[in-house]
Amino acid sequence: MAPYFNIIQSLCRACFSSDLDVITHQIERLISAYRADGNIDEAKALEKMLNNAKNKEVLHSSVITFSSCLQGETLTPKTIIPVDKETSAPILDVIYVDELPSTEPIFDTFIKEAVDSVILEWSNYDKLIKMNATPSRSCLIYGLPGTGKTHLAKWIAKQLGLPIVLAKLDGIVSSFLGTSSRNIGNLFAFANRYKCILLLDEFDAIAKLRNDPQEVGEVKRIVNTLLQCLDSRDEIGFTIGVTNHEQLLDPAIWRRFDVQIEIPKPSPSIIPLLLKNFITPLKYNEAEISFLSWCIQDCSGADIQKLSNWLKRMSIIDEYKNECLYHLMQRYTLLNTGRISDKVKEIITKAPDDIYASLKASSPELKQKDIAEIFNMTPSSFCKMIQKNNKE
Ligand SMILES: Nc1ncnc2c1ncn2[C@@H]1O[C@H](COP(=O)(O)OP(=O)(O)O)[C@@H](O)[C@H]1O
Ligand SMILES: [Mg+2]
Repeated sequence: MAPYFNIIQSLCRACFSSDLDVITHQIERLISAYRADGNIDEAKALEKMLNNAKNKEVLHSSVITFSSCLQGETLTPKTIIPVDKETSAPILDVIYVDELPSTEPIFDTFIKEAVDSVILEWSNYDKLIKMNATPSRSCLIYGLPGTGKTHLAKWIAKQLGLPIVLAKLDGIVSSFLGTSSRNIGNLFAFANRYKCILLLDEFDAIAKLRNDPQEVGEVKRIVNTLLQCLDSRDEIGFTIGVTNHEQLLDPAIWRRFDVQIEIPKPSPSIIPLLLKNFITPLKYNEAEISFLSWCIQDCSGADIQKLSNWLKRMSIIDEYKNECLYHLMQRYTLLNTGRISDKVKEIITKAPDDIYASLKASSPELKQKDIAEIFNMTPSSFCKMIQKNNKE
């Protein structure tokens, strides 16, 4: 029998019946078996996975107690949503917990740790209050468009087991003169009444008005109302502000947020992870992922998602499905000139060996033979071409 087959068999059975206790027990058996056989690295790797999963479980179970200790009524689909008095358009949307994303956004470790610390603090809200410590209750997430900020805000709410009250700021601000402040007041009154996270997405919609000289008086009124509302909400519930243009925000508003997290574009080590995440069920090998990552250096997470969807579409179109990745990416570059960096645009139209040189500089571990496939060449003809061009 193959090594540990009996344990793996029991583990599979436990997985199919979704019995977490048995799954944990079988993994612990596997760790002991590995350790006894001297496979220490494998035992440690499994142990780390198990501990991570257990920590998440602790986080998850604290969520349930947490949302039940927060003051306020529970939102239900029957709850009446406030509307703008002039236009009758709703001034907010409610996003219930089961509609929130359950996939964690993928960020560099230091961002992930900052986000985890906010979630941990907010999920220990009741304990902090008992200790007379004031937990932070507002968080501003800012950074370039498409970097996953809205996704992150929703995911935080999901982790806390709270629905989101999403302010329709564009509608609120463009409403008739004088009604914007009333709408903001109604929005906060609604959020304060229910157990929820108030999400002020595209928060800069309010700030943008400042550039319009005809709106000066109105903007002052809106900003003042907003400041008052943010101050009074601070005692009551959680608020997340999201903006792409943090420099447009009034400094007084900016200061109201206890925590401020900047989300940067994905770093070179995160791009392949995002690609692998979005590209499923398509399968690419490591060399192909490195090539795609090189092509979309400097792109946002949303751009990576867009490329992945495009590759999926190409994979089912008969005319393109057998095309090599190099030609596909040349075409994608021509169709997305605003997304692809100038450096890549310049090189991608050149010969494979030029691309190889640049690719090799960013991913030195790549071997010529692995890259040959991207150009639809056999390893030997690719190597010959590189050698010939190096001699010339
Ligand atoms: N780091 C990331 N991890 C996972 N998904 C991401 C990431 N960045 C962007 N996305 C995806 O890109 C799309 C746009 O993200 P979004 O949160 O709306 O960006 P933003 O609010 O920063 O403009 C979403 O589908 C989101 O899931
Ligand atoms: Mg957004």
